[in-house]
Amino acid sequence: MKGLILSGGKGTRLRPITHTAAKQLVPVANKPILYYAIEAMKEAGIVEIAIIIGETGREVREAVGDGSRWGVSITYIEQEAPLGLAHAVKISEGFMQEEPFVMYLGDNLIRGGIFGFVEQFEREKPDSLILLSKVQTPEQFGVAELGEDGVIIALEEKPQHPKSDLALVGVYLFTKEIFKAVNAIAPSKRGELEITDAIQYMIDQKKQVRPHVITGWWKDTGKLSDMLEANRIMLDDIESENLGRLEGNCEIQGRVVIGRDTVLDNCTVRGPAIIGDGCRLTDAFVGPYTSIGNFARISQAEIEHSIILAGCSILDLNGRIVDSLLGKNVEVTRQNTRPRAYRLMLGDNSQISVTN
Ligand code: G1P
Repeated sequence: MKGLILSGGKGTRLRPITHTAAKQLVPVANKPILYYAIEAMKEAGIVEIAIIIGETGREVREAVGDGSRWGVSITYIEQEAPLGLAHAVKISEGFMQEEPFVMYLGDNLIRGGIFGFVEQFEREKPDSLILLSKVQTPEQFGVAELGEDGVIIALEEKPQHPKSDLALVGVYLFTKEIFKAVNAIAPSKRGELEITDAIQYMIDQKKQVRPHVITGWWKDTGKLSDMLEANRIMLDDIESENLGRLEGNCEIQGRVVIGRDTVLDNCTVRGPAIIGDGCRLTDAFVGPYTSIGNFARISQAEIEHSIILAGCSILDLNGRIVDSLLGKNVEVTRQNTRPRAYRLMLGDNSQISVTN
C-alpha cells in the first residue's frame, strides 16, 4: 500500500500563525501535526508516501525532507490551487500506479494511529474503507447515513440537515477504483471536487465501500480550541524524560519532558507538559497541558494550557498566560515606564484578550 497526505490549504482560522507557517506544521506536544500522519503511516507499514502541497509547499518540503528521518520515501505533488480533496486524489494517480492507498488529511489527528484500519482493509479487501466518528456538529463535515445492517446508504458533504451524527474522518483507504470516481464527478457548490461525492459515486456504482465507526479520539484541527484540545490529548500520552538541568529550588510534578540544554532555575512544572531544547526558565510556573518550543526564555511568569512555539520570550509578567497559542519568536514583556499602558506589535488577525 502507498500513502497520500494532503498538506495544502490556507489555514485561515489559525491566523496570524498561518500567515507565516503551514497549518499542518503547527506543533502539538512540540511536534508538527503533519509528523503524526507520517508516523502513523510508517507504523502501518506504509513507506511510499506522496504529500500534496500548495501555497505553503516550500515550508512543508523543508520540514519533512525526503522522509529518510522516518525510514519512508516522500514524493511531493504540487496542486496548483485548492480544488478539492478529490482533485488531490486525481493528481496522485501517476504516483499510485494502481496500488491501493491510504489518504490522510494532514490537519487531522487520530489517537492510536491507523494500523488497525490498514490491517482491516487488507484483510477484507473492499474497494474503500471509510472511517466515521460521532460528532456534535455533523453539518461541518461529510456525513454518512447507515442502514440498520451497518451498510452505507448515502454520504453528503456538509449537509444543512444531517441524516446522522456520523462524520467522515479525514483518513480514507482506497483501491484504484477511486480514480474512476474522481474523474467522473463534477465540482460541488463550493467549486471543489469533493472526496465525499467521489465515494458516493463508488457506492452508486455498487462498489464495496465499508464503514468503520471509530470510538477513539479524533480531531480535524482548524482553530485555536482544536489545537489546545489536540495538545491536551497528545500530552496525555507522553512519558517523563529530563535531558536538561534543574537548578535552585525546582519542583517537577507529574509527567514532564524537559529537552536537551534546557535549564530550569527555581521553577515549578506541573505536567503533563513538554519543554523543548535550549530553553531557560527562571522563577516560572508551567502548568498542565503546556507545550513550550525550543529556545524559549521564560522568567517571572506563569503559563498553563498553552502552546508556545520556538524562540519565544516571556518575561516579568507577574501573571499567568492561559489558553494561548504564541507563534515563533514572540516576545511578551513588562515595561515599567510611564504611561502605564499596553504596547503591542501584532501581526494581521492577531487576537489579544486582557483582564485589566
Ligand atoms: C474534509 C471533508 C469532510 C471530512 C473532513 C474531515 O472537510 O470534505 O468530508 O469530514 O475533511 O476532516 P474540509 O476540512 O475540507 O472542510
